[in-house]
Amino acid sequence: MRPWSDAFGRTIRALRVSVTDRCNVRCLYCMPAEPRWLDRKDLLSYEELARLVRVAVRHGVRKVRITGGEPLLRQDLPAFVRMLKPLPGLEDLALTTNAVALAEQAGPLREAGLDRITVSLDTLDTARYERITRRRALPEVLQGLSAAEQAGFRPLKVNAVVVRGFNEDEVVSLAEWARASGRMMRFIEFMPLEGDPLWSRERVVPAAEILERLAGRFPFVPAPAQSGCTSQAFDYADGRGGFAVVAAVSRAFCGSCDRLRITADGGLRTCLFGDKAADLRALLRNGADDRALAEAMGEAVSRKASGHRIHFPGFKRPDCAMHSIGG
Ligand code: 5AD
Ligand code: SF4
Repeated sequence: MRPWSDAFGRTIRALRVSVTDRCNVRCLYCMPAEPRWLDRKDLLSYEELARLVRVAVRHGVRKVRITGGEPLLRQDLPAFVRMLKPLPGLEDLALTTNAVALAEQAGPLREAGLDRITVSLDTLDTARYERITRRRALPEVLQGLSAAEQAGFRPLKVNAVVVRGFNEDEVVSLAEWARASGRMMRFIEFMPLEGDPLWSRERVVPAAEILERLAGRFPFVPAPAQSGCTSQAFDYADGRGGFAVVAAVSRAFCGSCDRLRITADGGLRTCLFGDKAADLRALLRNGADDRALAEAMGEAVSRKASGHRIHFPGFKRPDCAMHSIGG
């Protein structure tokens, strides 16, 4: 079947599937202090989600990432992994987690066939962790990282959202920690998707500044670019690993964006900053067949926006926060 592509010639290869909007922490850049959760009856079942993924993989999607909220809060996530893993054409099945509950789940996820894990962690300091996530869970997170590595998830990627006034001075020590432990840091610019107002241009630490901070300590060279990649990767000059920056705000990579997102309640999103592009739950629950689902998804792709408009006058922030979209 023909892969989906949009009006700007981008072919869809990656899908992020959110299995819940709930989370066991409350990162300030991702959700309000008191979020309103989706109604459970509105969440898609694993069977429903897997059906949508199957349709997408038939239409050219090669990489699937399971997200949340915090995906480990959904019951028996390994069962979902087992449903997706055998899909013909699926090349990469990954998970993004805050790792709070990873220690006990890493083994079963590996056995179920999960390929890769990315952990979200913005600081190694206990007090800061609490300030950023509004919860105390750093020891559990660090245990989760080790357990994942023991289960065979290597190298782990670690996402840190860099927010001025919170953790921009920790870029070098995070990089140092990751280098010493064979992990790969990904430093992400803060996007206006936070729930309670926090975002401002001043709070964004541009990738150029992150690179400057690192260059003073660990010389690096650009790594070969990968297609559809939203990050810029670098290798340390001494050969000991590398890191990446995700310049989501300062250097919008929308031109090579090959992603779709499905929210936990079955909304199709073709852009982080766009509205819901299709209501797949309504279709599923009204008895649509795979062809009708594929048509709705393909049609939404054809309307995919060229890019976010954060730098345009009159930019209006989306009225939903990251945890409900799936990162
Ligand atoms: N800006 C940038 N990144 C964010 N994430 C969550 N909210 C934001 C935001 N406002 C990141 C999380 C996670 C990934 C899925 O998205 O840290 O690692
Ligand atoms: Fe939870 Fe991840 Fe959002 Fe933090 S960024 S509140 S860990 S979903």
